[in-house]
Amino acid sequence: MFTKATLRMPSRDNNRILQSILAIVWFNVALMFVERDTFAADPGPSVEQLAMAIDSADGLLATLRPQKFLGARSCAASACHGGIDPDPRFPLSRRNEYVHWLDQDPHSRSFQTLESARSKAILQRLSRSTDSEAVRASRLANCYGCHNPQPDQSRRGATYYERDSVSCEVCHGASEQWIGPHVTQAWPGLKQTGDAAALGFVETENISIRAKACAQCHVGSAGREVNHDLIAAGHPALKFEMTAYHAMLPKHWRDEEERKSNSQLEIALWKDGQVACGEAAINLLAWRASRAKEELPDAVWPEFAEYDCYACHHDLVHPSWRQTNSTSGTPLGMPAWGSWYFSRLMSKAGEDLPQLAKQMQGSFRPDPASIVRSVDSVQLAVPKIDALVALPSNWDDATQQYLALVAMEQAQRDSGKIDDSELTASITSLRQRLAFPQRYDSPKGLFEQSEPGATRGDVHKSLSELMNQLLRRGEQ
Ligand code: HEC
Ligand code: HEC
Ligand code: HEC
Ligand code: HEC
Repeated sequence: MFTKATLRMPSRDNNRILQSILAIVWFNVALMFVERDTFAADPGPSVEQLAMAIDSADGLLATLRPQKFLGARSCAASACHGGIDPDPRFPLSRRNEYVHWLDQDPHSRSFQTLESARSKAILQRLSRSTDSEAVRASRLANCYGCHNPQPDQSRRGATYYERDSVSCEVCHGASEQWIGPHVTQAWPGLKQTGDAAALGFVETENISIRAKACAQCHVGSAGREVNHDLIAAGHPALKFEMTAYHAMLPKHWRDEEERKSNSQLEIALWKDGQVACGEAAINLLAWRASRAKEELPDAVWPEFAEYDCYACHHDLVHPSWRQTNSTSGTPLGMPAWGSWYFSRLMSKAGEDLPQLAKQMQGSFRPDPASIVRSVDSVQLAVPKIDALVALPSNWDDATQQYLALVAMEQAQRDSGKIDDSELTASITSLRQRLAFPQRYDSPKGLFEQSEPGATRGDVHKSLSELMNQLLRRGEQ
């Protein structure tokens, strides 16, 4: 992960040494507040070692064996992040993050989810009598990868708790080496110099890094995937979009302050989210293609979950727009590839991404070896958010455009624009149009001539009108 070249070489000036001494003093003071036995059984590197490590890049590399996870309880002391209510006296944290997470955050339930009746049914539907022990184990490891991303045994500190679910360190980084320094006065400086990151701390304040952290599970990554088998067995399909999920997540951080200090937060979430999701989806494709290339027995190729679901799952009616409209260059009769994660990125990506899409859609079994070669060269770039409305190719595309416009609207409100009932009405009407009818898992009727106001042209018109309303309000 870290190469020598990417590590910043800290200077050895006096300031630095002073900071290190301060770090030691402060860490010892801080330890008095943290439950003693948190560190007793598994002390990890000493503060002196850490201070030395921070002071020399070689030392730092030496301590960079993969850091251990200490578990959520190591954050949960009441003087640290385990308060019952937010404590307004502290400028950098609410001090009740643990309780908030335990109580409100869906991530704290993700381990229990694997024991639910729904999970048992999913696993049962996936299993075949011929499955070997190894296949069963790797299937479970896949579930754990996202629902309880416990690292291997050797990376668990003594305080790591088996049922910790998606807990603090999954997003903020394994804390073995930063838990000490992060309660010292030197910490803000260490964050600035990049030393905090070198100790394993993940800078979730940075929106691009935040989006990448979410995408590793919500899009998937090598060895953790929600593929069409899982979906058909009952797992929710993963259609992640950063602004939507960020809005849904109950915040344990000072969200209002963050918005106040950055009125363009929502645009950054959208933009960095598009790139992070695109990158994760490309990496997932690369992993799948290379497994297919090696002809591994359990490799599925191509993976249906990467294509437009509703190209296959729809009513068989005649005439249908699908029989006459080629969507964004997709050959008739083929499902569009990457319609969710790449719909907004396609136009800005130069030739490589459209070329990859062409290969993925060009035959029922694209050649995995040439896909492995193609993914290598793909560079992603995002279009400007206020220039993205286009004739939607499918539901995925229309919904991605809708979500981008909603992000623009939020950014306008964050920068002080007052509520506008006409705008709200346009958004509501578009949302209702894109929503699945009751009892359906698919956008039944969308784009069909028979449904009033729902052809691709109609939806395009509504999207354009909403964009114009937003641009007008932006100028006011
Ligand atoms: C280690 C994997 C992982 C990471 C990282 C992760 N999530 Fe999740 N997330 C999950 C899992 C698993 C669930 C399902 C929890 C359950 O119900 O069991 C989930 C659920 C959610 C939900 C609730 C969805 C619903 O349908 O109610 C939201 C919202 C969410 N995550 C947002 C985020 C955001 C935003 C980030 C990044 C800041 C993030 N997640 C990072 C794995 C992850
Ligand atoms: C690539 C990451 C990933 C993998 C692998 C994964 N999940 Fe999930 N799972 C999620 C996310 C993210 C959600 C939340 C979905 C959402 O709302 O968007 C979720 C939701 C669920 C839910 C629905 C929870 C609820 O009550 O709403 C169940 C059940 C579930 N997962 C079980 C499993 C099982 C069983 C496996 C293994 C066979 C598994 N998951 C593998 C990421 C994953
Ligand atoms: C799903 C990912 C995720 C999980 C799990 C998570 N966090 Fe966070 N956390 C974030 C994000 C995103 C932010 C906002 C950006 C920032 O301030 O770093 C944040 C912010 C914070 C902050 C800064 C608070 C502020 O007001 O600025 C603290 C402290 C914190 N988290 C502690 C914790 C603790 C303790 C846990 C476990 C009990 C935890 N987090 C679990 C993603 C996560
Ligand atoms: C290339 C065509 C194709 C694509 C693309 C596709 N599927 Fe499927 N799907 C199928 C087929 C074929 C079946 C098996 C139907 C059967 O055996 O009854 C199936 C089965 C399912 C099932 C189980 C249905 C049942 O009643 O048992 C679900 C759920 C599902 N798909 C959801 C999705 C989702 C969500 C997506 C997009 C992420 C998707 N599919 C993409 C062809 C596709």
